[in-house]
Amino acid sequence: MKFGGTSVANAASWSRIRSLMESRRREGGRVLVVVSAVSGVTDALRQLGKCAERGDREAAAAAIARRHRELLQAMQLAEPAGLTSLLAELAELAAVGCQAAEARAYQARTQAFGELLSSTLGAAFLDANGWPTRWLDAREHLCATALPNQNLRTRMLSAMVAPVPDPALAAQLAAQGDAFITQGFIARDGDGHTVLLGRGGSDTSAACFGALLGAQRVEIWTDVAGMFTANPRQVPGARLLRRLDYEEAQEIASTGAKVLHPHCLQPLREPRVPLLIKDTNRPELEGTVIGPEVRTHAPSVKAISARKGITLVSMESVGMWQQVGFLADVFAYFKTHGLSVDLIGSAETNVTVSLDPTENLLDSDAIAALATDLAKVCRVKVIAPCAAITLVGRGIRSLLHTLSDVLAEFGHLRVHLISQSSNNLNLTFVVDEGVVDTLLPHLHELLIAAGSLRTDDDALFGPSWQTLYGTGDVAASVPAWWQEHGRERLLALAHAATPRYAYHLPTVLARVRALQALDAVDRWHYAVKANPHPAILRALAAAGCGFECGSPGELRAVAAAAPDAAGLLYIPSFAARGEFAFALGTRAVVTLDTLYPLQHWGELFRDREIMLRLDLGRDLGDHGTIRGGDSGKFGLPLDQLPTFLQLAQRHGARVAGLHAHAGTGVLDADHWGRIYAQLASLAEHIGSVSVLDVGGGLGVPAHPGERGLDLDALGRTLHGVKAAYPQYQLWMEPGRYLVAEAGVLLARVTQLRTRGKLHYLGLDAGMDCLIRPALDDSWHRIVNLTRLAEPTTVQYQVVGPICDSSDILGRDRRLPEAREGDVVLIAQVGAYGKAMASRYNLRDEADEVVIE
Ligand code: LLP
Repeated sequence: MKFGGTSVANAASWSRIRSLMESRRREGGRVLVVVSAVSGVTDALRQLGKCAERGDREAAAAAIARRHRELLQAMQLAEPAGLTSLLAELAELAAVGCQAAEARAYQARTQAFGELLSSTLGAAFLDANGWPTRWLDAREHLCATALPNQNLRTRMLSAMVAPVPDPALAAQLAAQGDAFITQGFIARDGDGHTVLLGRGGSDTSAACFGALLGAQRVEIWTDVAGMFTANPRQVPGARLLRRLDYEEAQEIASTGAKVLHPHCLQPLREPRVPLLIKDTNRPELEGTVIGPEVRTHAPSVKAISARKGITLVSMESVGMWQQVGFLADVFAYFKTHGLSVDLIGSAETNVTVSLDPTENLLDSDAIAALATDLAKVCRVKVIAPCAAITLVGRGIRSLLHTLSDVLAEFGHLRVHLISQSSNNLNLTFVVDEGVVDTLLPHLHELLIAAGSLRTDDDALFGPSWQTLYGTGDVAASVPAWWQEHGRERLLALAHAATPRYAYHLPTVLARVRALQALDAVDRWHYAVKANPHPAILRALAAAGCGFECGSPGELRAVAAAAPDAAGLLYIPSFAARGEFAFALGTRAVVTLDTLYPLQHWGELFRDREIMLRLDLGRDLGDHGTIRGGDSGKFGLPLDQLPTFLQLAQRHGARVAGLHAHAGTGVLDADHWGRIYAQLASLAEHIGSVSVLDVGGGLGVPAHPGERGLDLDALGRTLHGVKAAYPQYQLWMEPGRYLVAEAGVLLARVTQLRTRGKLHYLGLDAGMDCLIRPALDDSWHRIVNLTRLAEPTTVQYQVVGPICDSSDILGRDRRLPEAREGDVVLIAQVGAYGKAMASRYNLRDEADEVVIE
C-alpha cells in the first residue's frame, strides 16, 4: 500500500492509514506500506540540496525538523530515537555542505531524508496505536540498474530499478511479522550510495516492492478513485475505468493522466502483479484495477487524454528526400541539446517532431540553440504552444471505423501532426493548445455517442466522475419505463408470443408533453413513418398533434386512426403523379421538393397552397442528413429557387410555406434555430410564405452516459429566432423523439454456441424485425429480461435467425449466461423498428402490443 505526501501529512491521515492496513489484515494479507515524504518536505530538501549558503541550508534543515516535531506533537507521540538521529544527521549534512563534484550525490542523500523521516514517524505512530510495524530501509532491497545512456544526474536523481522477484526475502519478511513500513522514492546504486527514483518515484517503489515480494497486489492510495476516460477536471462526465491492462494504463499515464507515474507499471508486468488505484478519502469506491490483458472485453477506446505545452519543431528541406543520413544529422542536434523527441511525422520535404515538456526542460534558450543548429541543415519552424490529444485503446486500428465523427471534428481544426503508435495502442493529434479545453469534453461525448468508448460494458466502465464526486449524473439516473415496473408484464407478453414489439403509451405522451411545453413552436406534426401504429396515432392526435405523411398509405393510416387530426402534411420523395393527385384530394398540405411536378403536372397544383422543401446545403445537413441515402435526393437546391417560383406563379400555385428537414438523430439544440433563420431570410424574398417548417430529426441518445437533447436550450434557440422573425408560424415534425424510447422488441433465445473466442446468442428476432443495426449501425441496449438481476458474465454476439451475414443485432454485449427460451429485450426500437421490418426469409412478422 503506497501513500503519497498529503496522505501522511497529519495525524488524522495516519489514523486512516492504520485502519486501511487493518482492513487488509482482516482479509488475511500482510501489509507493506510505502510512504512519500510529508507534503512540502521534498521541496524544502531540494532547496537544501541546492543551497550554496550554509546559513540557508541550516535554516531549511531546522524548518524540516520543526515540521516533523509538530506532527509528533499532534500525534501525541514521544520522539522516537530513530527520528532524533535522522534529524541530527540531516543537520550535520546541512552544516557541512558539499564540494561541487559531489553535488548530485549530496542532492540524492539529502532528499532521501523526506521518506526516511516520514516512514520513521509512521512506524512510531502505528506502534503506539496497537499496530506493531517493522521499519525497513528501502535501500537495502532496491538496487538501481545503471543504464548505458544515463548521465550522472539521471543515475543519481532519476535512477531505474529492475526488481527480480525474491521469494527468499518474501519468506524472511513473513517470518518477521504482518506489517512493515518503508520509503518510496529511494534506492541504492551498485556502490551502495543513496539514489532517487525521480518524479513519481514512490509509485515506482511500491511497484518494485510488489514485484520483489510477489505481492498479491499493489495498492496506490491517492486523492481520486482511479483512472478515468478523460481528465475529470476537463470532462466531468468522464467514466471511471474499472479494469485496464498494463499497456493501456501505461499509455494513459504517459499521455496525460497524472494519477499514476508511467514508470511504475513496467516492474509489475512480468510477475503479473495487479495494481489497484484507490481514493484514500473514499475507500469504499471501487477504484481501477490494472493487470494482465483480458481478452473477453469488447474492443473500445479507453480514454482520451491531453498534454499541453507541447513544442513542435518542423524541419523543411528539399534535399532530404531519399538522402542518406539527413535524420541522423538532425537528431544529433537534439541529442546535443539534451532534448528527447516524442512524436514524429514526415513528408517528402518535411519532418516534424514534438517535444514533450514532461520529458524535457523546454526553456526557450534550449529551443533557440537547437533551432540555430538545425538551421545549418534545413529550414526550421518552431510551433508552440501545442497540445497532443491522444485516444488510447488496445487495437485502436480496429476501431477506426467507429471514429468518423471524432475524426471529422479534427477536420475543422489546424492539426499539425497525427501519429499512430506502432504498438497499436494510441492515436495522437497535435493541435493548437488553445482549443483543447472546449474540444475535449466534446470529443468525449462523440466517442460515447459513436460507441467507440463502450460505456455499455460495465465490466470496464464505472460511474462518471460527476456521479462519484459531483452533484450527480442526471442523464444516467433516469431509468427506462421497462426498468421501472415493466418486467413482469413484459415477460408475460413475451411468453404469449415472440418476436413482439411492445409500445408504452405513457412514454409517448410524456415525450409529446415535453415538446409541447416549447411554446415557440406553433404546431407539431408527428412523422408517421417512424411508427404508424393506430394506437400511437390516436394518442398523439388526442394530445393535439398533427401528422406528417410521406405516402398515400400513411395518409390513409392517419385518416383511419385520427380523422380529426389538427393538421396534415404530405411530404413525399419522388412520388408519382397519381400519388400527388391522391394527396391533393385529402386535406393535407402538399410539399414539393423538385421542379418536375410543376414542370410536367403543373395543372394539378393550380390555385393550391403548397409548401416547398429546400436543401439548405452542407452547413445545416452536417448530421449525416437522412441516413441511408444521398442527401441530394431531398429538397430543392437553392439555385433552382427562382425557377421554382416562376413555375409556381405560372401555374397559379401559392408557396405558403418553406420546409427543411436536414438530418435525423440530431442532439445539437441549435440546429433548428439555424434552419429557421435561414428559411426566414429566404421567405422574406418570396412574400407569400407564412409558415416555416424546420423538420424533425430530434435525437434520442442510445449509449449509457450519452447526453440527450437539451429541450430548454432548444426552447431558447427557437424563441431567439422567432423574436427576430415573428411574422412566421413555426412548425416541427419529430418522429423518433416521440416514439423511440416507448418501444421495445421482445425475443426468445433460440440457440447458443461458441466458436473460437466468440459466444453467439441466437434470437427468434433478427434483421427481419429490426433492420436498423444492420442498415445504419444503430446501437440498442439489449438485456436478458429473464435474468435481469444476474451478473453479466458472458460477452455475446447477439444474432437473429436470418440467412444473411448482416443479421446481427448487437456485437460484444455483456449479458448473463443465457439459456434457451430466455426472454431478451431490445430497447429503443419504437421508431423505425416495426415500420422498417420485412418478411425476409418469409418469416412471420413480429406482432405489436400497446401498453396503455
Ligand atoms: N420529416 C421528414 C420530411 C422526414 O423525412 C423525417 C424522417 C422526419 C420528419 C422525422 O425525422 P425524425 O425526427 O424521426 O428523425 N431510417 C432511419 C431514419 C430515417 C428518417 C427519415 N425521415 C433510422 O432508422 O434511423
